[in-house]
Amino acid sequence: MKALVLAGGKGTRLRPLTHTSAKQLVPVANKPVLYYGLEAIRDAGITSVGIIVGDTGPEVRRAVGDGSRFGLEVTYIPQEAPLGLAHCVLIAQDFLADDPFVMYLGDNFLIGGIADQVSAFQAGGYDAQILLTRVAEPQFYGVAELGPAGEIIALEEKPAVPRSDLAIVGVYLFSPVIHQAVRAIEPSDRGELEITDAIQWLIRTGHSVQSHMVSGYWRDTGRLQDMLECNRIVLESVDRDIKGAVDTLSEITGRVVIAPGAVVENSILRGPIVIGADTKISSAYVGPFTSIGEGCVVQNAEIEYSIVLDGSSVDGVSRIAHSLIGRNVEVSRASGPPYTHELMVGDHSRIQVRS
Ligand code: G1P
Repeated sequence: MKALVLAGGKGTRLRPLTHTSAKQLVPVANKPVLYYGLEAIRDAGITSVGIIVGDTGPEVRRAVGDGSRFGLEVTYIPQEAPLGLAHCVLIAQDFLADDPFVMYLGDNFLIGGIADQVSAFQAGGYDAQILLTRVAEPQFYGVAELGPAGEIIALEEKPAVPRSDLAIVGVYLFSPVIHQAVRAIEPSDRGELEITDAIQWLIRTGHSVQSHMVSGYWRDTGRLQDMLECNRIVLESVDRDIKGAVDTLSEITGRVVIAPGAVVENSILRGPIVIGADTKISSAYVGPFTSIGEGCVVQNAEIEYSIVLDGSSVDGVSRIAHSLIGRNVEVSRASGPPYTHELMVGDHSRIQVRS
């Protein structure tokens, strides 16, 4: 059994972060989303992993290396353009050879791992196995229609009028017959070879395709609100661990992780929170479900339910919430007059001010 991890794509819904960085490397509780997937693959007993990379390939390679840190052997497979999930299978054929494999979308976040799904697939001897979960907005996903006995009747990619609320989760198990399917299909209206169409081809040609409901938490982290929700869910289960320096004027409540080298002065921290190494929190309030990366500064400021990436500072601003702040960003208070908002922000940024 091998794994094919998809870490290409453009990540347009997470711009501007994805202008400079891979969407799969945006951190959840200070750890890149992609790492959670790689760990789930390793915990399912799979070691041979192909990673599809696109424009952000160098960054993904730097982050994951040869995979030995995760107990994996990683082979990188460059994709010249984001031409679809089935196209990834097509270009990975040499790597996959005749082995069954799990295909894992690197921006998908699944709590509870994939070991059970992998064993069910191996025991069942199916041609393909997909995971499904109920969602509020199925039109944004691949959607499955099931028959009375739970059998899959049809799959459709992002249908305007969904026939169910069962979304296809980005973790698929395939036997080598999928290689025939990805060669048989045509690009969709969005110009991509859709894996949903390849699986639909398997169903149409009489192959066995099994579906499983995901019991635990799942999110595609493609959008801001999903990133923040994943961050919340992971922070729900962190254990209090304070390695950095906290002065006596500070008040720390609940499950708070403070990495070595971090300094907290005259501040109120209400967990769950993680604070990265060498970050300084000074005369500030950090509220629940906040992850602050390494080498940041938060001073004379209030922030909650947010993610701040490495090297950024928030100074003199209250109160930031529901925000994703990229690397080396400065958010500070303007001193007037004139009483204006002064912005220098990248393309496709989103700013909501309340004044
Ligand atoms: C892809 C699949 C879709 C699936 C989703 C899960 O969509 O095409 O069927 O439901 O991943 O994350 P994409 O994220 O490429 O738009």
